[in-house]
Amino acid sequence: MSNKIHSLSGYLYEYQKSIANPEEFWADVAERFYWRKSWDKVLEWNFEEPKIQWFINGKLNITENIFERHLFTLANKTAIIWEANDPNEPAIHLTYKQLYEKVGQFANTLKNLNVQKGDRVIIYLPMIPEAVVAMLACARIGAIHSVVFAGFSANSLTDRINDCGAKVVITADGSYRGAKTFPLKSIVDEAVEKCKSIEKVVVFQRTHETVSMVAGRDIWWHDATAGVSTHNEAEEMDSEDMLFILYTSGSTGKPKGVVHTTGGYMVYTQYTFENVFQYKPEDIFWCTADIGWITGHSYIVYAPLLSGATVVMYEGVPTYPHNGRFWEVIDKHKVTHFYTAPTAIRALEALGTDPIQPYSLKSLKVLGSVGEPINVEAWQWYHTHIGKGRCPIVDTWWQTETGGMLISPLAGITPTKPSFATLPLCGVQPVIVDDKGNELKGNNVEGNLCIKFPFPSMLRTTYGDHERCRQTYFSTFKGLYFTGDGARRDEDGYYRILGRVDDVINVSGHRLGTAEVENAINEHPLVIESAVVGYPHDIKGQGIFAYVICDSSVTPDRYENIKNSILITVTKVIGAIAKPDKILFVSGLPKTRSGKIMRRILRKIAEGDANNLGDITTLLNPEIVEEIKQKAGL
Ligand code: WT7
Repeated sequence: MSNKIHSLSGYLYEYQKSIANPEEFWADVAERFYWRKSWDKVLEWNFEEPKIQWFINGKLNITENIFERHLFTLANKTAIIWEANDPNEPAIHLTYKQLYEKVGQFANTLKNLNVQKGDRVIIYLPMIPEAVVAMLACARIGAIHSVVFAGFSANSLTDRINDCGAKVVITADGSYRGAKTFPLKSIVDEAVEKCKSIEKVVVFQRTHETVSMVAGRDIWWHDATAGVSTHNEAEEMDSEDMLFILYTSGSTGKPKGVVHTTGGYMVYTQYTFENVFQYKPEDIFWCTADIGWITGHSYIVYAPLLSGATVVMYEGVPTYPHNGRFWEVIDKHKVTHFYTAPTAIRALEALGTDPIQPYSLKSLKVLGSVGEPINVEAWQWYHTHIGKGRCPIVDTWWQTETGGMLISPLAGITPTKPSFATLPLCGVQPVIVDDKGNELKGNNVEGNLCIKFPFPSMLRTTYGDHERCRQTYFSTFKGLYFTGDGARRDEDGYYRILGRVDDVINVSGHRLGTAEVENAINEHPLVIESAVVGYPHDIKGQGIFAYVICDSSVTPDRYENIKNSILITVTKVIGAIAKPDKILFVSGLPKTRSGKIMRRILRKIAEGDANNLGDITTLLNPEIVEEIKQKAGL
């Protein structure tokens, strides 16, 4: 295929081209795809509104680019290898033709359920092939999918459904994750009670547990699809028509619906997949992310399938039924590319090397890391014990909002340095600015990471609230997209991502807003106020530290009980991923004279560092700091 980079000099050459003339560069990449009608203009943009449009007036359907474009050559190639939670359940191999037929059939089914172009559909499913089928069926008919990670609570699901006004929820009776099952259908039932827009709930039968079906609203997947034609003519979409909404947390308020559109997302994700992973047609690609996150959207579903690749999709968890399960799956399906998160690497590293011994891992060619900064030790362990010293590691930095990877080595091409995401991909123009927004030019600088020029897969808006998009990403530093991350550019021009500089914490690669977790804790009837900060955690990257003020009637002997019930509250309001790791009961929080919580102090104490709290004399209540230090055992 064209546009594929094969060498470091090739990268440098292509990168210069992509910066000197972005429109020409991306038009050249986009021409490889199947457009029913070509674009009139490649790009229009300004970061003030913001307004970002790529491949203007181009007409296409992304699923035609997955299926029709490949079917002559790839009909019998495996698209998805599905590995069940239970190793005794046989793996499923779906060819491109079989997947195409399932997508066509489910697309027709959605139409039968009165889903039309532009309607929103919520997908709340386990990691099963039907999740991919449901996403692509939406894209096929021009419905906008919003996948919600099936670990989120009913309450979180309600919020997302109501924010986007979804018509349909696609779910399963339950899901298997390790030794546990989760009752997805009853979570949906509870969620949908408060959602006026929902007309239908489609239920895939996975665990065969008994569920209640509401007449007229709920329908089994197998009944809805029975006898439905597999032939479906794809809807013609505009390049800038919405493809999906994906909710993600920020520093304020409820999660926002990041909007991605069709043409730019397709072109950019596929381009980055092929180049970063140096994909070849015989490769077997396994990304361990859940489909409910952007990593799953872009690098399990869209980019690999647009490339005609074979992907492994795994239903379960890394350590079930034994600690070597990941490595077993790699050997079993001859995985060549393994893409996971540092938190998983650290958790597996903590188990020692015994679980790896029975497996050869000889099929592996490339390893990937995503979701949070990878520490040098975890990088070395991954390189030595999983990659056996011979597989390049691509540390890929990007975000829900960017749709695709932005800063990453190209596997085997860009010389790597542990803990560095290295260099920007073609078309990506990162800048580092100080707190006043001055660009820090040259090397050996550190500051706020921004992007100064659009790339095809960047977010277009936040659903239903464009002003929020402008405020969050385009107003902090004039004329720039602000990522929320801090970064350092070293003496070689390599980027090292330092983590979030806003009130977002990254727990096991899951993104949470501190305000969101505080609001959940505050739902507890005995909690008056709380403050949440991140602190360094050996496995999770960051842990959640909550300072909680209880009602004055509460005596210390009840703290243990209240701790437990706070965890239950948070699980109910958000989901288990947001449960605090540490809760400290305090009688007050350090506040500025304007009433703002001084998080800097709370962060230091959570880190266990009581000596460098900085100036606390400007606080409204400096005496509280001593109390908190003591209670934290410092
Ligand atoms: C945040 C985005 C990208 C898909 C998964 C997470 C952090 C992501 C890296 C990396 C250091 C990273 C950043 C970013 N992050 N990848 N390779 N090195 N940090 O997507 O939930 O939107 O979170 O994850 O802080 O802003 P997300």
